[in-house]
Amino acid sequence: MTQQPKIIIAIDGYSSTGKSSFAKLIAERLGYIHLDSGALYRAVTLYGLRKGAIADGKINEEALVALLPEIEVSQRPDTYLFDENVEGLIRQMEVSSYVSPVSAIPPVRVFVDDNLHKMAAGGGVVMDGRDIGTTVFPNAELKIFMQADDLVRAMRRYKETTDPGTTFIDVLHNLRDRDLRDSTREVSPLRKADDAIVLDNTCMTMEDEMEWLVALLNEKYGFSL
Ligand code: DC
Repeated sequence: MTQQPKIIIAIDGYSSTGKSSFAKLIAERLGYIHLDSGALYRAVTLYGLRKGAIADGKINEEALVALLPEIEVSQRPDTYLFDENVEGLIRQMEVSSYVSPVSAIPPVRVFVDDNLHKMAAGGGVVMDGRDIGTTVFPNAELKIFMQADDLVRAMRRYKETTDPGTTFIDVLHNLRDRDLRDSTREVSPLRKADDAIVLDNTCMTMEDEMEWLVALLNEKYGFSL
């Protein structure tokens, strides 16, 4: 592969729009690092559950924040909590049902952002989340904002779920609830950065998305893909 420019690509958008899968594919194609910021919020949530700071439907914010200094998270590219690969565990419904309120706690956001900045040092990164283009990397060279019809998104997520007791309606409610919480919270709410390009993939395949991106990188960013 010829040497390509090393830019930062920020991909934000609603839950289950396929941000991470698209980001992973882009990283493979460009030889970039992929960072999934939502996975870090999920890892913090999993640790909070294990340590009892999250229990019986409640989040003890003070207890959770007190745990942050001891947490070690990394992406290699799977997500690790200390030396344990938690990529599967963090996708389970229990974590999904707490992760949005956990991500609204300001010190948790600082913790995740610090980790993202450390892991992204050097550029050549594609990072996905909710506030990458607005807060984490406001100077990212390319910002993409992904959206899609919510029934289509819920069906995609439902097909991936490994919890036998989870119904399509559970997934749809969780997704709508997270969209609302993520876009209305006080700190770093989900919103399109003014300079982000909208990608609505309701009727697109991943191949269509890649084709769209390759054309954009070649025409506007000096890539030769
Ligand atoms: O992308 P995801 O569904 O794995 O993200 C899990 C949660 O983390 C999501 O409900 C909102 C939160 N999140 C966030 O607040 N900011 C980010 N940059 C990424 C995720």
